[in-house]
Amino acid sequence: MLPCARSLLLCVLCHGVSVWAFARMPDALELRSAFSVARTTSMEGGPKMVVTFDKFYVNIGGDFEPKTGLFRCRIPGAYYFSFTVGKFPHRDLSVMLMKNRNEVQAIIYDDNGGEERKVQSQSAMLQLDFGDTVWLRLHGDPRYAIYSNTGHYTTFSGYLIYPDIYTFQEHNQHDQATTFPQHTPQQVDTDGPVAEEKKDKEINEVRRDVEEEEDQRSAFSVGRTQSILGIDKVYPEHKPVIFDTEFVNIGNDFNMSSGVFLCQVPGAYYFSFNAGKLPHKTLSVKLMKNHLEVQAMIYDDSDTEKALQSQSLMLQLQEGDTVWLYSHQREGFGAYSNHAKYITFTGFLVYPELPQKLVQQQKQGKEL
Ligand SMILES: *[C@@H]1O[C@H](CO)[C@@H](O)[C@H](O)[C@H]1NC(C)=O
Repeated sequence: MLPCARSLLLCVLCHGVSVWAFARMPDALELRSAFSVARTTSMEGGPKMVVTFDKFYVNIGGDFEPKTGLFRCRIPGAYYFSFTVGKFPHRDLSVMLMKNRNEVQAIIYDDNGGEERKVQSQSAMLQLDFGDTVWLRLHGDPRYAIYSNTGHYTTFSGYLIYPDIYTFQEHNQHDQATTFPQHTPQQVDTDGPVAEEKKDKEINEVRRDVEEEEDQRSAFSVGRTQSILGIDKVYPEHKPVIFDTEFVNIGNDFNMSSGVFLCQVPGAYYFSFNAGKLPHKTLSVKLMKNHLEVQAMIYDDSDTEKALQSQSLMLQLQEGDTVWLYSHQREGFGAYSNHAKYITFTGFLVYPELPQKLVQQQKQGKEL
């Protein structure tokens, strides 16, 4: 469940507000957007560069348009996107995650032109406004192609992590009043004005709590436009990878100048990272926790030209824990990137730790 929806549910439960509260806040339940699509055929680079999809697994909210291949933002907020594309034999691979007409966000690339088929993956979070579009662009030259078949090598997924609640409600009031059922006068009158006042008070309490819970949001997604090159030193310092592009930094828990994520809200976090392979260099990038605790890594010591490697993991973090990426700093190691951003790093809170009071209440509930 989305953190926001979850916290709303919790608040409603712990205040003993009836189901009626949901009827009064239909917008909260409408804050859902998710899609996951696949392509069953290959596609060659040409003038029509938008990658379209013909297999739909999930399209909650209907924000992904099958015909155009565009995801169109209906609910402003922070979205997580991930995509995997197949490399066509004897062709190069270049697929970019685009925002609107021409804003490049991140890339999948593989230029060895070899005969093999393989998949490459990329992911990032983006902050979107109403009407923004997100899509995949295949390089327009026929030298490039993506491979897919009924095995679905090529997939594209995205979902709303944190809705930007206030903008959505403003927009909602302006021209979407009919989309969400409003509380009708008949319903109000049944309980009389006093009961109504009491309910309003309860609702306001819930709303306040939802707002407080928003402080528990945490998400970052960053990209790097430059390669990393190891240099020979007898004792290489373990310096975090630094990023120069900030897609999302909700809660400001990621420090752009140090490259370190500092946990403020204890809980379970999802992390994903991607990095390009430099020709004739070994790619070794590790997800680190605190001082030098390796959590997961990507590695590639093949001789291939530019390509991408990906990794993802969830970590249970306490307040004050740090998470960062380390690229092996010895000579012979390195990671490739350029303006299209091969190197990306994303993390977001999936479930905050429950307050101790609530955990106890739940336990007592079970014992009764
Ligand atoms: C971010 O990191 C830099 C360099 O380590 C440090 O000087 C700065 O205080 C940090 N900023 C915050 C807000 O912690």
